[in-house]
Amino acid sequence: MLKAVPGTSDIFPQAKDYPFREPVFRYITTTAEEVLRGAGAQMVHTPIFEYLEVFQKGVGLTSDIVVKKEMYVLEDRGGRLLALRPEPTAAIVRAYNEHGMKVWPQPVRLFTWGPIFRGERQQKGRYKQFHQVDYEALGLSDPLLDAEAIALMVRIYKTLGLKNLEVKLGSVGDPEDRLRYNQYLRTLFEPYAQALSEDSRVRLEANPMRILDSKSERDQQIIAELQPKPMLEFLGPEARAFHEQVCRYLAELGVPFSVDPSMVRGLDYYVRTAWEVHHTSIGAKSALGGGGRYDGLSEMLGGPPVPGVGFGIGIERVAIALQEEGIPIPADPSPTLYLAPLDEAAKIEALVLAEQLRPKIYVEIGYAPKSPRKALEDALKKGARYVGFLGESERARGVITLKHLESGEQTTLEPLQLHSLFEGPEPK
Ligand code: HAM
Repeated sequence: MLKAVPGTSDIFPQAKDYPFREPVFRYITTTAEEVLRGAGAQMVHTPIFEYLEVFQKGVGLTSDIVVKKEMYVLEDRGGRLLALRPEPTAAIVRAYNEHGMKVWPQPVRLFTWGPIFRGERQQKGRYKQFHQVDYEALGLSDPLLDAEAIALMVRIYKTLGLKNLEVKLGSVGDPEDRLRYNQYLRTLFEPYAQALSEDSRVRLEANPMRILDSKSERDQQIIAELQPKPMLEFLGPEARAFHEQVCRYLAELGVPFSVDPSMVRGLDYYVRTAWEVHHTSIGAKSALGGGGRYDGLSEMLGGPPVPGVGFGIGIERVAIALQEEGIPIPADPSPTLYLAPLDEAAKIEALVLAEQLRPKIYVEIGYAPKSPRKALEDALKKGARYVGFLGESERARGVITLKHLESGEQTTLEPLQLHSLFEGPEPK
């Protein structure tokens, strides 16, 4: 029997693992959507795959996604290379440019949620197909938007009920600041090149800053010994002023955060603001979500300058955090009426009646004839408020037997009476 690819999951209500239970998933996406729509962001859906260049140029040649070949690349019939999206930001910037959103009132604030694909090694909270809620504010380079994005992200977590959050805010500076910092790190790490992990040796050439984010223990030991100065000490005056303004705005908004002077993010497009939100359930090396500013990304994709800032929230990781904090997920509604056919002929009667009532109330039917006792058991299991029996004697009299499950009261109703019972507000 064929099975799902390891690192991918089916999401359905009874799923064994909490992050893949559909009501948990829906609770996260609908809460995020309410918060983001309530702040004026508009929903966008970009394709699940794009030309490979969108992501290669977008996330950058030194990101793990490219270096570790985590992208799922496919070839279309014309021989063009396509990639399943390893993150949504580059695709949203591509869409902004393609649809001329630059002439809209700025900033243009967009959000989406959906599947993301990265060929990473599977472990707790790390999958090959996972899901993100993503928010982007495009068209303005103002620290106000960075502060707003962080505040919105934190409010999504808080609205969900999460408490044990830590917002770590840093700055990766402007490109010229990073050049100076990378030069400093290269000189510092060069003598240890042979001791570094293979990935970090590649990073030493291309983007030494990413060594600091290495998951290898050996690399972390070397980093601990060398104690490199943090990025924040290398900020130029403009990036520094921008960072300080974000901090001031966050303080005014009452969003708790701590400054992480060595913040490194996994994608290459970031400039200035970069942040992550951490939670005790996921461990220090991984985040519940992260974001930052990417003012040069549009140009990397061949577009005009379009500043932007945004974040991505890992939906499965949020689910793990909700489980750890024991936060109750809103229960799905149960049926108002369970219609039980007692014989073959009543099956279609039950379905006709259900379809007539469904615009007004939530109706389920028993699909196979059952004894009244078994039908009652099924209705109770489903948490229905009423059970309606349709059998031979009901057919002969043109009625339905209706039982209120809580009180046990039983009546026979004609179709018109039944319809009027469910008119107006839901009966108790
Ligand atoms: P990211 O930090 O690569 O940023 O991913 C955002 C979040 O997605 C992570 O914090 C984590 O919660 C979740 N995540 C990442 N990889 C995995 C995985 N393999 N399995 C499960 N969850 C995962 C971005 O993707 C940027 N596009 C965020 C952004 C938007 N920056 C600006 N705008």
